[in-house]
Amino acid sequence: MRKFLAPSILAGDWWNIGEQIEATLRGGADLIHFDVMDGHFVPNITVGPEILGYISRRVDVPIDAHLMIEDPDRYIPEFVRAGANWVSVHIENVVHIHRTLTLIRELGAKAGVVLNPGTPLSAIEEAIHYADYVLLMSVNPGFSGQKFIERSLERLSLLRDMRDRLNPDCLIEIDGGIKEENIAEVIRAGADVVVVGSGIFSAEDVESRTRKLKELIFSATAV
Ligand code: DX5
Ligand code: ZN
Repeated sequence: MRKFLAPSILAGDWWNIGEQIEATLRGGADLIHFDVMDGHFVPNITVGPEILGYISRRVDVPIDAHLMIEDPDRYIPEFVRAGANWVSVHIENVVHIHRTLTLIRELGAKAGVVLNPGTPLSAIEEAIHYADYVLLMSVNPGFSGQKFIERSLERLSLLRDMRDRLNPDCLIEIDGGIKEENIAEVIRAGADVVVVGSGIFSAEDVESRTRKLKELIFSATAV
């Protein structure tokens, strides 16, 4: 299965966000991960569809919108209209998950379902049948720069088994605390899409850090 590196631009320097995004693209970024927070579902506030539009009009790679907001159905059409190609919602705050994932797909985007670190994998055993990807959080959502929760490795391999059994086409994405030191491990445990925020944007040279992470993904996949 193809592997993807998705820089989380929340961790970037927003004074120079355009340049920073371009540096990740030169380094081989496959997706742009766009974190949307509303100050209710998570204790932080970030950006919305207008800002996403500025980015989607300038970049060719897909935009992966991670919605950490209450009542996501209300905003999904706007995000897709603004250029989100992948849209994910949290299982913890969506009551009618079939309806929400179907809505995303009908609008023409890939539909993802997200699990917080404390949510049992069994919570998505049904939704995985109609999801294009599952996003496993390896930190509690809200902020970049947090420490990777080690149990996520075991959860990743259990999720991979579930995926292979129930929906082999579904991708597995992991998000939070991933850096040069542990990126190979998450690939080997089953991740197809790896989100990296501070592990990219803390670098002096964002382009070469991105390239380095892609190489690490490549060699972990080759083994
Ligand atoms: C956390 C966000 C993540 C975060 C990743 O709520 O969903 O995408 O920005 O940043 P790092 O890689 O620094 O943990
Ligand atoms: Zn995210």
